[in-house]
Amino acid sequence: MRPSCGILVPGGWRATVLWAISPVVAQSFGGGLDHHRRSVHMARMIIAIDGPAASGKGTLGKRLAHHYGYRHLDTGVIYRAVAKALLDRGFDLTDEARAVAIAMELDPENFGHPELKSQRIGDAASVVSAIPRVREALVNFQRQFAADPPGAVLDGRDIGTVICPNADVKIFVVADPQVRAHRRTLEALARGEAADEAMVLADILKRDERDKNRAAAPLKAAEDAHILDNSNLDVEASVSAAIAIVEAVRAAR
Ligand code: CDP
Repeated sequence: MRPSCGILVPGGWRATVLWAISPVVAQSFGGGLDHHRRSVHMARMIIAIDGPAASGKGTLGKRLAHHYGYRHLDTGVIYRAVAKALLDRGFDLTDEARAVAIAMELDPENFGHPELKSQRIGDAASVVSAIPRVREALVNFQRQFAADPPGAVLDGRDIGTVICPNADVKIFVVADPQVRAHRRTLEALARGEAADEAMVLADILKRDERDKNRAAAPLKAAEDAHILDNSNLDVEASVSAAIAIVEAVRAAR
């Protein structure tokens, strides 16, 4: 553990995480020389994507990172990993001391664990993520990820407001709750999990309420965020709309 900017950082975490994230990074650089050239000739950017549960931030983040040859961090997976570790060890989700200790010792090799995607862990993550000291323990890693070359796309709840308030482009993704519940149900079914759309909807609404109303880094659009409503957009149209936002911001510089 080493102090940095007054905030505790898990020891050795950064290097390990970057290594563990390398498949994602590799994916982000996929697309060959064109993408490489594009990133070389473009100024380094930080793109912040925030939004409520199941709004499509992750897919959008991944696709934008691929498009620009940047790295991508799904920050939700970090909170999900803390929640899963607490549950696996039989600890209470509101046990602050243990949650902070776990946040500082996270093993990024577990970030790809399929259970992290589950509704149960998403719900648990929303409880754990409301603990301010847990959030503090994770701030510097996210900021460092954002600052490292060649540029980065981070998605979450507080990227544009707290983690990267100076991000070059901020996009706040929204979609009707019913649409989000439908998409999330299809995802769960595709993974072979049982999913009832009405229950998924209830979970999404409950989680949004908790995320919006917590004191620490609540879910909200930054004042300078561009709102992208993808209720009636498929993935391709949503990615095109996001690229159009980024390009408009760059052109206006
Ligand atoms: O994929 P989905 O939108 O359902 O959730 P997620 O992005 O994986 O985030 C899971 C939970 O972690 C959220 O409900 C938030 O409570 C929390 N989270 C957060 O507080 N801050 C972030 N930057 C990302 C996630």
